[in-house]
This record gives sequence, C-alpha cells and structure tokens, in this order.
Amino acid sequence: MDLDLRGQAAIVTGGSRGIGRAIAARLAQEGMDVAIAARDARQLQRVKSEIEGPGRRILTQVADLSEAGACATLVLAAAEAFGRLDLVVNNAGATKRGDFLQLTDEDWATGFGLKLMAAVRVSRAAWPVLMRTNGSIINIAGVGARTGNAEFTIGGSVNSAMLNLTKALADRGVKDGVRVNAINPGSIVTDRLTLRIERVMAEHKLSHDDAYNRMLADARIPKMMPAVFCASLPPWPKE
Ligand SMILES: NC(=O)c1ccc[n+]([C@@H]2O[C@H](COP(=O)([O-])OP(=O)(O)OC[C@H]3O[C@@H](n4cnc5c(N)ncnc54)[C@H](OP(=O)(O)O)[C@@H]3O)[C@@H](O)[C@H]2O)c1
Repeated sequence: MDLDLRGQAAIVTGGSRGIGRAIAARLAQEGMDVAIAARDARQLQRVKSEIEGPGRRILTQVADLSEAGACATLVLAAAEAFGRLDLVVNNAGATKRGDFLQLTDEDWATGFGLKLMAAVRVSRAAWPVLMRTNGSIINIAGVGARTGNAEFTIGGSVNSAMLNLTKALADRGVKDGVRVNAINPGSIVTDRLTLRIERVMAEHKLSHDDAYNRMLADARIPKMMPAVFCASLPPWPKE
C-alpha cells in the first residue's frame, strides 16, 4: 500500500508496544520519519531497530507523558529532528479497571492525567507546527467511550472525553487547516489485554481459553483482533 506519506513526519505516543507500535511500524513502512515516546528506553530501542530503514528516521524519546513538560519537549525534539511535523497520534494510555467503589481519586487523576492530558498537551504544542503542513491529529480513544461498563468507569470516561476533545479540536482545525479525528479500537490483544486475561484467569480460577471466552461474552463480541496483528509486523516493501 502506498499512502503517499514518504518524507512526512509523525509522532506516535506510546509507540513502543501494542497498538502504538503497530501504527509506528506501518507509518515507517510507508516512508515516514517517526518519533516514538514511552517510558521504557530498552523497549523503545527494540522497536527502533525493528522499524528503521532506508529513507526513514526513527527518533526515540524516553518520557513519562503524564508529566506536563514532557509533552512539549517531545514535540520540540521531533520538530527539530525532522524539520516538519505532519501527524500526531495520541495513543499512550493506561487506566485502572475495577469496582467503582474501590477506585480512588488518585486512580482517576492518573487515568485522566496520562491519556487525556497527554493528548491535550501534545496537541497544543504540536498545533502551530501542524498548521504549517496542514497536518493531522489522530486520537486513539476506545469503544468504551460509547459503551459504559461497570468495570471500566475510568477508561470509558477518559475515552468519552477524548472523543469530545477530538470534535472540539476538529472544529478549530477547520479554521487552522489541521484535521483531527479519533479511532475507537475494540478489543485488540496487546500486552494490556493479555494482562487482563491473566487477571481474569487468576480471579476466577479459569483456563486461558475460558477466561478469554468469558471476556468475549462480557463484551458481547464474537472475537478479539488476533495478537498476530500487533505481534508480527508486515514485511517491508522492496526499496
Ligand atoms: N488494546 C485494546 O483492546 C484497546 C481497546 C480500546 C482502546 N485502547 C487504547 O489504545 C491505546 C493503546 O493501548 P494498548 O493496548 O496498545 O496498550 P499497551 O500495549 O499497554 O501500550 C501502551 C503504550 O503506552 C506507553 N505508556 C504507558 N504509560 C505511559 C506514560 N506514562 N508515558 C508515556 N508512555 C506511556 C507504553 O510504554 P511504557 O509502559 O514503556 O511507558 C506503551 O508504549 C490506549 O490509549 C488504550 O486505551 C486499547
């Protein structure tokens, strides 16, 4: 697939694992320069060596994006390294599941402090740079934004906020020439979801398959996107 992205530049937050890694890999495969940010330096390096290649540069930025200054620093580093910015993918996120009555203020603040606030801060810092290229922002929200779930009060609320932020920025983007969209993934078997399956196995003393099927039944979906989608990257096209 040639999406005509060669020579353009992107930031993918949480680009070291799961959905973010798959997005970063695909963008690099299309010939984009890509900045990936996460906390684990070794995992970032691993992904860099997987996805770098001729005609594309990969910048790794070790950052805790729940810290205010880290978001602007990431945008500055990417814009300086690549000389332009065409795309920001706000993907980093981790929210605690569990019984609403057991979740603390800190759990809520942490969930919103990373996923929503990193999207706000990265988008705000990147906006003037994206205006120069008529660039684009993609917010990775989640299907929980639309389907409230007793075990997922923080994640669902954050994802709903992400959708509202997306619409509001898209409105502003009409004037400024920046496109803003959101994607609501369903259940994708990434590290986060694998961990959840393990928790269900332990909590209910179930086999892996039974825990998996229980989660499907709870989510009322026929299947999850197979792990292979994220675990094995597509082959590079011939240069
Ligand atoms: N998987 C699903 O089924 C699903 C469904 C709907 C929506 N989503 C959304 O999709 C996004 C990605 O999910 P995923 O399943 O791919 O997650 P994942 O496999 O756990 O990957 C999360 C990524 O975010 C990074 N990250 C986490 N905390 C961070 C922090 N404080 N600062 C910087 N980076 C941080 C992680 O790296 P480090 O840990 O090294 O920092 C990692 O690169 C999330 O926003 C999630 O809500 C996922």
